[in-house]
Amino acid sequence: MEQTLMQRLEESKAFIRERFAAPIDCAIVLGSGLGDLAQKIENPVIIKYADIPHFPISTVPGHAGRLVIGRLAGKTVLCMQGRFHYYEGYSMAQVVYPVQVMHLLNIQTLILTNAAGCVNKAWKAGDLMLITDHIKLIADSPLRGQNCDELGPRFFDMSHAYDPALQDKARAAARNMSLNLREGVYELFTGPNFETPAEVRLARILGADAVGMSTVPETIAANHCGIKVLGISCLTNMAAGINDTALDHQEVLETGLRVKSTFETLVTGIVESL
Ligand code: HPA
Repeated sequence: MEQTLMQRLEESKAFIRERFAAPIDCAIVLGSGLGDLAQKIENPVIIKYADIPHFPISTVPGHAGRLVIGRLAGKTVLCMQGRFHYYEGYSMAQVVYPVQVMHLLNIQTLILTNAAGCVNKAWKAGDLMLITDHIKLIADSPLRGQNCDELGPRFFDMSHAYDPALQDKARAAARNMSLNLREGVYELFTGPNFETPAEVRLARILGADAVGMSTVPETIAANHCGIKVLGISCLTNMAAGINDTALDHQEVLETGLRVKSTFETLVTGIVESL
């Protein structure tokens, strides 16, 4: 008989718990070009996604595809070095599977990071943005289909999808390092293509400050199972049509590299304050 979602999650959890038994304070998902933060983790236990029962496998360049669990800034963190994207062909349910495993691991705080295109013309490539809310116009949901009541309720609130108290911690961490942390709304596009200039104009009219291809499904799944979310976007490029330049993945990775130390100091500062 086919296994239920809970049975699969339990097996994934058990595999991780055999390798790391201690309580975990927080999980961090590292976006495109931002994976190096995992190297700062002390005494890491490294688990390849490919080895974890039922885990999807990451296919994008710049995504390592492994869990790194250990100590960072005095806390125990589980870091996803590389995530799953809808455009890779996974269902939204598969994209959020690791978040549901985090819930079974009793993780209550999730820091989601990503590379995103900057829609707000007053900002610039290389700025970091605290995600205060999101827009998903894509007609699919990670929770479409029968509800798993063990994880969370069928209908649930998204009024504070990005936890206000965690946002305050991020603001404080930014202040401590004199960082001008932008704040705004992230809109999900499916990718894998970058948006058209008209789509970017639409996103701006709708109130988005950044566009990207991740984070929103994970935020939804985390809210479903009661995990508090903090979102940080690295605005790696001005979104399409703002400058007269073609967009490419190389620019995304290069900007990630350029702001790497600022990004790492911010995330480490936030983790320290948890
Ligand atoms: N659009 C969508 N996703 C992205 C972008 C972008 O311009 N840059 C990095 N990720």
